[in-house]
Amino acid sequence: MSDPLLAACGVSVEFPGGRRPADGLDLVVHPGEIVALAGQSGCGKTTLIRAMLGLQRTVSGEIRYEGRPIGRGRALRRYRRHVQFIPQDPRAALDPRRTVYDAVAEGLRAHRLRDGEYARVTEALDLAGLPRRLAASRPYELSGGQCQRVLIAGALVLRPRVLLADEPVSSLDVVARGEILALLLRLREELGMATLIATHDLGAAWQIADRTAVLHGGRIAEDGPTECVLTRPAHEQTRTLLAAHRQSAPVHS
Ligand SMILES: Nc1ncnc2c1ncn2[C@@H]1O[C@H](COP(=O)(O)OP(=O)(O)OP(=O)(O)O)[C@@H](O)[C@H]1O
Ligand SMILES: [Mg+2]
Repeated sequence: MSDPLLAACGVSVEFPGGRRPADGLDLVVHPGEIVALAGQSGCGKTTLIRAMLGLQRTVSGEIRYEGRPIGRGRALRRYRRHVQFIPQDPRAALDPRRTVYDAVAEGLRAHRLRDGEYARVTEALDLAGLPRRLAASRPYELSGGQCQRVLIAGALVLRPRVLLADEPVSSLDVVARGEILALLLRLREELGMATLIATHDLGAAWQIADRTAVLHGGRIAEDGPTECVLTRPAHEQTRTLLAAHRQSAPVHS
């Protein structure tokens, strides 16, 4: 397999009181790969994603992009164009006063990429499957699934190589959920984009992830092809998540 595009190498994060949601944790994402970061609520998925974005201080280890530490200054700015974050709660993540157009254009403006803004925003709306007529709408006029598409468009506008999607479907109903998972798969096919999707729901991992890594006790307890991990789980935590999934969504298993 190709070299990793993005890697967490021995990463530890410590919160006051000594709790370590990441404690010497290793995780890699290869180009074009969809990886599920699975784990119970509160196990540290969001914290790890924030560390991978350089937003969360680490006490040891490093994050590498294309084999090099993500660094600071200009290198970190460039990295933050290539690796885009889709936060956990789509509606809360959008400013209710701003239009869809402005929300999608925000990344371009933050990176001072002014040229061709309109064309790039409409291209991102198209890629995310949002009708262009919604460009003037505000978040409260949209469904949850449409809000999620706005966040995805806002990430795509910077033409990233990696998406870090934090629970991208957990707040959505079953139809919107299927549509967003299909969209993430299509983005990989059309743009070759790698995606790390944090989820407590193994159904989402089963549906789209090539590989599933189970986070438990600050480390990756189990990591392998999704089919192997979910049909022949080796770790107790994976079995616990599978049992929870069967109880919550028997129709999907
Ligand atoms: N800034 C912080 N200071 C102290 N503790 C924190 C902080 N952020 C998160 N935590 C704690 O660290 C643990 C991991 O939180 P995190 O949000 O990363 O989990 P998660 O796996 O994303 O959970 P969920 O599935 O509910 O989104 C939790 O116990 C949380 O309360
Ligand atoms: Mg979280």
